[in-house]
Amino acid sequence: MQKKIQIAIDGPASAGKSTVAKLVAKKLNYIYCDTGAMYRATTWAAKEHGVAFDDDVALGKLLGKIQIEFIPAEPEQLVFVDGVDVTQAIRTPVITNNVSAVAAQPMVRKALTKRQQMLAKNGGIVMDGRDIGSTVLPDAEVKIFLVASVKERALRRFKENQQKGIMTPLAVLEKEIEARDYKDSHREVSPLVQAKDAILVDTTSLDIKEVTDEIMKIVEKFDK
Ligand code: DC
Repeated sequence: MQKKIQIAIDGPASAGKSTVAKLVAKKLNYIYCDTGAMYRATTWAAKEHGVAFDDDVALGKLLGKIQIEFIPAEPEQLVFVDGVDVTQAIRTPVITNNVSAVAAQPMVRKALTKRQQMLAKNGGIVMDGRDIGSTVLPDAEVKIFLVASVKERALRRFKENQQKGIMTPLAVLEKEIEARDYKDSHREVSPLVQAKDAILVDTTSLDIKEVTDEIMKIVEKFDK
């Protein structure tokens, strides 16, 4: 591909965004940016500093002080907050169940959106999240909206958890995913919505390779 473009991949929790976004970035030799990890790292820092998850002003101040860094690594990139490796900690239930509250705060969204726009300004990036195509990178050349049924997403999270030794029952995961979908779609600032010009890809009955191939076809079409 000649030009280094911006690729936005949005969608609800566990639709497969990060796995696929990582693979697409690797194929294109682009940067991968997991914006959910930024909201999770902020939630971790709030807990660490005793800041309430819904205290917009205090969270905004906290974000002015802390440093969130991504370090490329295999099999997953590492996330650091002020030099502490929080890669595993930001995936634990306490963070997962509170990140929606933090992500709904206007000052948090403003600060993280600005960081994301800085990272993407030269293109050559695949960014995944909830509001990338609609708010963060409205001019992204390629916008994908990935969806999958709640049942399928809960099952994927269940299998991932099993590998990490987390034993949350499937029915509980379904309820959590539904609750998170609702919160992410109904918040006032930058709710989860499909951007008008985003292409919908339903991954319910597709495997990772099929989804990646479909997105690569869309990206390649752009280059013609
Ligand atoms: O994709 P994830 O599960 O790691 O995202 C964590 C939370 O962050 C999720 O509840 C939605 C929120 N989020 C957001 O509001 N905007 C983004 N661009 C990315 C994630």
